[in-house]
Amino acid sequence: MALQPLNALVTQLATQPIIFVGGKGGVGKTTTAAALASRYAAQQKKTLIVSTDPAHSLGDVLNMSLSNEKTAITPYLDALELNPDVIVDAHFKQVERTIKGYANPDMMPKIREHLRLSKSAPGAQEAAMLESMCQHLVAAADAGYEHIVFDTAPTGHTLRLLVLPEMMGAWTDGLLAQQRRQAKLRSVASSLDTEKKVDVSNPFTKHKPDRWEQAVSVLEKRKQLFRQAGALLHDREKTAIVLVMTADVLPLAETKRAIQQLEETTLTPAAIVVNQLITPMQTDEFWRKRADRQQQLMNEIESSFADYPVYPIYLQQTDVRGTEALSTLLS
Ligand SMILES: Nc1ncnc2c1ncn2[C@@H]1O[C@H](COP(=O)(O)OP(=O)(O)OP(=O)(O)O)[C@@H](O)[C@H]1O
Ligand SMILES: [Mg+2]
Repeated sequence: MALQPLNALVTQLATQPIIFVGGKGGVGKTTTAAALASRYAAQQKKTLIVSTDPAHSLGDVLNMSLSNEKTAITPYLDALELNPDVIVDAHFKQVERTIKGYANPDMMPKIREHLRLSKSAPGAQEAAMLESMCQHLVAAADAGYEHIVFDTAPTGHTLRLLVLPEMMGAWTDGLLAQQRRQAKLRSVASSLDTEKKVDVSNPFTKHKPDRWEQAVSVLEKRKQLFRQAGALLHDREKTAIVLVMTADVLPLAETKRAIQQLEETTLTPAAIVVNQLITPMQTDEFWRKRADRQQQLMNEIESSFADYPVYPIYLQQTDVRGTEALSTLLS
């Protein structure tokens, strides 16, 4: 597909409630995501922009200090930066509260210690972030947002996040099946053992009768969340993935890999943005050479990504900050 005028990107994505902006480090994901969100907000469409990037540059681009809670940037634009530490803490506090409801109080110090260590286990932050992203994703429509734009961390991470709902769903299924088997075994055992000896090695011994139902209901809710989020992510009418790159060799290679990975999961990108392009007709030799090199790469980009609309963004004299400047970047 030939190069498209940039404001056509705003039109193309106008009916997509969920927009993910991904790409290699430093190519302009945050700038593009913030520019799209600012444009929709300027059209009086209620928009939420969420940064899942631990580097937190969204606040800098919007000239606002952001947190895990929504901050109103304009009457139509809200923004938040998911903070993995805060999310993981909240998640484990919740787990502790649930356990406290039915565990033997003597075991709580040990359980607390175990939870403290689990916080830094590999994948804990990612899982907690994913759950939080899915919550925002599922809640956005009910909260009246016409668009939710995700400014994501560099490519690999984003792709993992996008396929994780299915993995988490399967994992939760496994846990639920295990719970069911255990419940069955317990009911058989208790019908055989009328005396009911107390097992001191089990921290959950002095249980309330509904403890398994509680655990199962937490897992079921989670599964439901991942199922809902997964369905939204795989619905092309709902979710659009925009891949940002620059006209350089490494971003081109990474974008090719990303598209291949996305195509394997049926999550094809909706558009490709080539950012930081230098306008041709440069008088200075250095800049002319850079512009010529980019032009060669643009030809390769257009032939490599013939199935996708490609949109150019030109390099600006200064960093683009604030919703007004961001809105005009895409016009
Ligand atoms: N078209 C442009 N013109 C001028 N400066 C730009 C342009 N696009 C991005 N920049 C600047 O380049 C830098 C990187 O952009 P940005 O933060 O949007 O990239 P990113 O892909 O989100 O980076 P990271 O991977 O670190 O999150 C920023 O300083 C930004 O202001
Ligand atoms: Mg960024």
